[in-house]
Amino acid sequence: MADLTTHYLGLKLRNPLIVSSSGLTSTVEKIKQLEELGAGAVVLKSLFEEQIKAEAGLMLEPTPYPEAQDYILQYTKSNSLEEYLQLIEKAKQSVRIPVIASINCISASEWTSFAEDIENAGADAIELNIYFLPTDKDSPSEKNEELYYNVITKVRKKTRIPVSVKIGMHFTNLVKTIHNLYVRGANGVVIFNRFYAPDIDIDKMKITAAEVFSSPSDIRNSLRWVGIISDQVENIDIAASTGVHDGAGAIKQILAGAKAVQLCSVLYKKGVEKLAVIKNDIESWMGQHQFDSIEEFRGKLNYRNIPDPTVYERSQFMKYFSSHV
Ligand SMILES: Cc1cc2nc3c(=O)[nH]c(=O)nc-3n(C[C@H](O)[C@H](O)[C@H](O)COP(=O)(O)O)c2cc1C
Repeated sequence: MADLTTHYLGLKLRNPLIVSSSGLTSTVEKIKQLEELGAGAVVLKSLFEEQIKAEAGLMLEPTPYPEAQDYILQYTKSNSLEEYLQLIEKAKQSVRIPVIASINCISASEWTSFAEDIENAGADAIELNIYFLPTDKDSPSEKNEELYYNVITKVRKKTRIPVSVKIGMHFTNLVKTIHNLYVRGANGVVIFNRFYAPDIDIDKMKITAAEVFSSPSDIRNSLRWVGIISDQVENIDIAASTGVHDGAGAIKQILAGAKAVQLCSVLYKKGVEKLAVIKNDIESWMGQHQFDSIEEFRGKLNYRNIPDPTVYERSQFMKYFSSHV
């Protein structure tokens, strides 16, 4: 029997399949079921920085998104911080797999003290879902990146448990950004988050929401970066996210250097039972290729370990265009 054990954020996972932060991990019952079905770890549904501020009585700063602010205030009433801490505590009492807390944030303000409460509640690690959408032409890129660095620096001072940062793909120099997160104390990085995005209804001429769930082809966005980052920032642990829908997707990300993969859309679309199928598919592939452990093939095809690393850099469809006229 192949050994699927992996180490992510210094935590021992019985296999690399982590259930992503979402409604799939919002109750102890769901988390117990995910453990029974074979999950290696879970990331709890996120708390919002704004929730923490609102409940701590800190003034919410004026925001250009009043609708979002109303939503947060409403949401806070039915999802208190205390409930979140209880979810961590109860989940830790009920399952043996690691339980990672999650916070959506955009600033390094007072909310960061809550990291201590999360640690005291027993969480094994914290995932920081940091996202800021720059829309101001006068704001220099460095200032936007500072935001990410300030959050990790501040949270690192508040807690001793491992911290990972879940980011999007749009950085001028992603390798440098992730290196900077690492030197400021990030133990891991989740590559990449998939954000809510707008769409347009052309009949009603209204902005609507784009498709919420990913598809397997979305793996193309992260695979290249997992391959490069696992070489260039080699001591940061990578959890590959977005578009992993099957055993093949998970295997590709591990071959590229990921320590773990996160699953979300596939479990919403196909049911949480799909976890066991993906795990079995990884095991059978390992059997076919005579790999006894994840470490035997992890990173085998990353930027460092392939004969021609420029295949990871190639971005233009030169060959494709010349043969598809
Ligand atoms: C319904 C739904 C709820 C989500 N909620 C959260 C959340 O609370 N916090 C978070 O960091 N990501 C959240 N996400 C993003 C997922 O964790 C994940 O990063 C994203 O869906 C990409 O992975 P996938 O391709 O496996 O779906 C959510 C996604 C979905 C579809």
